[in-house]
Amino acid sequence: MREKFCLEPDVNRLKKETLFVCQSCGHKSGKWLGKCPECGEWNSVVEEKARKPSGRNGFQLRDVTAIAFTEIEPQDDVRIPSGVTEFDRVLGGGIVPGTLVLIGGDPGIGKSTLLLQVADKLSAAGSFVLYVSGEESERQIKLRGERLAVEAKNVFLLPETNLENIINEIERLKPGAIIVDSIQTVFSSVIESAPGSVSQVREVAHQFLLLAKNRGIPIFLIGHITKEGSIAGPKILEHIVDTVLYFEGERHHNHRIVRAVKNRFGAANEVGVFEMTGAGLMPVANPSQMFLQERPQNVAGSIVTACMEGTRPLLVEIQALVSGTRYGTGRRMTQGLDQNRVALLIAMLEKRASLQLTGDDVFVNIAGGLEVDEPAVDLGVVTAIVSSFKNMTVDPHTAVFGEVGLTGEVRGAMQASVRAREAQALGFKKIVMPSSNVPGLERLLGVRIVGVRSVDDALNELF
Ligand code: TYD
Ligand code: MG
Repeated sequence: MREKFCLEPDVNRLKKETLFVCQSCGHKSGKWLGKCPECGEWNSVVEEKARKPSGRNGFQLRDVTAIAFTEIEPQDDVRIPSGVTEFDRVLGGGIVPGTLVLIGGDPGIGKSTLLLQVADKLSAAGSFVLYVSGEESERQIKLRGERLAVEAKNVFLLPETNLENIINEIERLKPGAIIVDSIQTVFSSVIESAPGSVSQVREVAHQFLLLAKNRGIPIFLIGHITKEGSIAGPKILEHIVDTVLYFEGERHHNHRIVRAVKNRFGAANEVGVFEMTGAGLMPVANPSQMFLQERPQNVAGSIVTACMEGTRPLLVEIQALVSGTRYGTGRRMTQGLDQNRVALLIAMLEKRASLQLTGDDVFVNIAGGLEVDEPAVDLGVVTAIVSSFKNMTVDPHTAVFGEVGLTGEVRGAMQASVRAREAQALGFKKIVMPSSNVPGLERLLGVRIVGVRSVDDALNELF
């Protein structure tokens, strides 16, 4: 029983000056722990100096009054175009003044490049842009700018990592937009812990949030953050900022995908597609075409499916490889798809379509490095697996989409007509889709629409 009361020390009452803070989720404790009780991360708890409280009990009282909802002036949705079309798209149609945007991604993927291009375009439209860099010297940034052939005539570079100094310069320059590269290098002298630690990252992000709101200017924070959150404070940052953009996929491809994981001012899951060229990141106008470019024709195990990424339809190729396993039970490996979902679809195929896959390895992959997590790709996954298993090809002018249930039923997908029209625009001649989505689409020009109710129906139609 005694232990129970010791489990969660009230950290605010601790007289000690040091705290142990999880660098992944920010959980505080009075003693060091090997595993964070909050997020389950191992070895993430680090000793940090507590912030010195100001005023009585650490709080300063001031007069506050609540405002009646009806008294708040309605505001038009003002957005400033950044001038980079795909960047505007992920943001939900341009930059909202007063927002704090986090841009994360692996090192070397193109964060600094993209933001320098945005800075250039914004400055060309007349606003002062402050580019704070704690990672590179002004010479290095200038070199990158020369490579990008940017003029950047109203862009000001500030190689500085001290938050208070940065804020001073902001007061003086009064920029119309700020870029911070990167948040992990900036530190506040109010806090004693090291730059990049959770307390620092949280404090710095919070100060920039206040700045963005008070001044009504957009602030972009670059973060060395992977989705797995291997570096300090990703989860905390996600809560503080308005919008979170992640660079997705690998560096080995020429194209780069930027996804809005969270957006208080637009659709989450919106993606922007760029191509990395010798002169920077170029927006890709027709991503479906790009994703299908290298598609092999008339090969078993390949099928095109229509998925929705935010508000945009995207045609992607799903590839499957089914081959006899060298171990007792087959492995299931996926890339760009949820492994559990694929395992479930395989189990469904074994039971409902009498396919014996237990002794086979099954690999499923989205070509081009895109990550897709919507159920409407199920039918594509199933088709690709069956195609590889039976070693039978699907006509290359056929696209499929639809959610598959555990009983093998094919369920309707949202935005079916948008998907079908994208397939039509790219020259597909036949679309196999949920029958509940067919009404209204029967007369799509030049395309044969086939509605199916079950996986059986679909497989009969395709093979
Ligand atoms: P960078 O923006 O520095 O990445 P991050 O800030 O995310 O770490 O991009 C670095 C990579 O991009 C580097 O490998 C070189 C490549 N690159 C180009 O291919 N073309 C270009 O015009 C530029 C500026 C960079
Ligand atoms: Mg960089």
